Amino acid sequence: MKAIRAAAVTLKDNPFEKSVADCLVYHEDALVLVEDGTIAAFGPYAELAPTLPAGADLVEYPDGLMMPGFIDAHVHYPQLEVIGAYGSQLLEWLERYTFPAEQHFADAAHADAVAKLFLRELLRAGTTTAMVYCTVHPQSVEAFFAESVRYNTRMIAGKVLMDRNAPAALLDTAERGYDESDALIRRWHGTGRQLYCVTPRFAPTSTQAQLDAAGALLRAHDGVYLQTHLCENLDEIAWVHELFPERASYLDVYAHTGLVGARSMFGHGIHLHEHDFCTCHQAGAALAHCPTSNLFLGSGLFKLFEAADPVRPVRVGLGTDVGGGTSLSQLQTLNAAYKVAAMAGHKLNAVQAFYLATLGGARSLHLDERLGRLAPGYEADLVVLDPKATPLMAFRNGYCRDIIEQLFMLMVLGDDRAVRATYVAGETVYDRERSGDPFRYAEG
Ligand code: GUN
Ligand code: ZN
Repeated sequence: MKAIRAAAVTLKDNPFEKSVADCLVYHEDALVLVEDGTIAAFGPYAELAPTLPAGADLVEYPDGLMMPGFIDAHVHYPQLEVIGAYGSQLLEWLERYTFPAEQHFADAAHADAVAKLFLRELLRAGTTTAMVYCTVHPQSVEAFFAESVRYNTRMIAGKVLMDRNAPAALLDTAERGYDESDALIRRWHGTGRQLYCVTPRFAPTSTQAQLDAAGALLRAHDGVYLQTHLCENLDEIAWVHELFPERASYLDVYAHTGLVGARSMFGHGIHLHEHDFCTCHQAGAALAHCPTSNLFLGSGLFKLFEAADPVRPVRVGLGTDVGGGTSLSQLQTLNAAYKVAAMAGHKLNAVQAFYLATLGGARSLHLDERLGRLAPGYEADLVVLDPKATPLMAFRNGYCRDIIEQLFMLMVLGDDRAVRATYVAGETVYDRERSGDPFRYAEG
């Protein structure tokens, strides 16, 4: 039995639909008890301390604020080497930076090294679950899942499918993409905590035959996910209309092929219409809001409050979209999400924001019965934040009058420096203060 003591915040319902009071759980001094990787008990320290068995391993963070580990609903691990690349919008950015970088993953040793760095950077940012694009190369998926198994993180990932409109070295075929994905699903889906995601990159780089093959993979394997991109950029959307003139909308290209269902995650969805939101709502499909990427690539402003409208709520996760995005930190991603909402005349409050990064992310993945909350029975993935991480934060923190102001300060000023420790299935996988290597496993 392991016990963690700190202040704690967790959400129990959706603050886009209910009041803050109905959603927020806050304990100034809380205890989480962990048994076999799962939360056995959670509550005020004073109540739970007497139940602590003698000899339990108790870790205390007197200045810490713990919460569920962050969930990144959309990220490309092979794009670490092009994060922050100057000067292009989406389609040119793909050609100039992204496709060359992804070709390096033909080399399994390169994939292995980048997967190791990526996992460490996620954990350093307090992210414990992510939905991840690999490259077209099966070895890029092998490298990623192998590293995730080592840390025992719950990750969702898949091999990119592309059979046109990309460099020859990055193309598969409808048949080969099917066979390679099928083999990866058999090997990895449900291996430990790993889950597979069928990953056609986006409509312009797949023929109809390949999109059909993706649909067939979903039908052949229970519980696998689908991820792709949708309505990110105006030139991209015009291109999709040229390539699929018979379809009513970009989303309809996917819907027509049976790719819009529960467990489908569409990256961006910036330029969607009411009809598309209704389609996603009815299907239980989700959108990944990636604000740092949308600003960086000049793609546009996601309509978060329209998507989350309680009249026909669409599930929304928060994505970093690195390398289009500029940070792996969900705190920095929330900072951008606040500004994007503000540009549309909305206020994203701190409780809504942290919902997106935790329980809302879990709901977008249909994993909210096991991830995204501090509550008995939930998987013990959590992050301990340090509201005094920098001199400025320590100073500003002194003027926060309540937990909601403190949370807001954390998402505006915080980044990976504000992560004191990260736990995965109850194990400390990252501890900022540990001497030597702060990570549980060596990089090499
Ligand atoms: N659309 C198709 N591929 C990509 C990608 O790698 N990143 C982003 N942001 N959009 C895409
Ligand atoms: Zn993306």
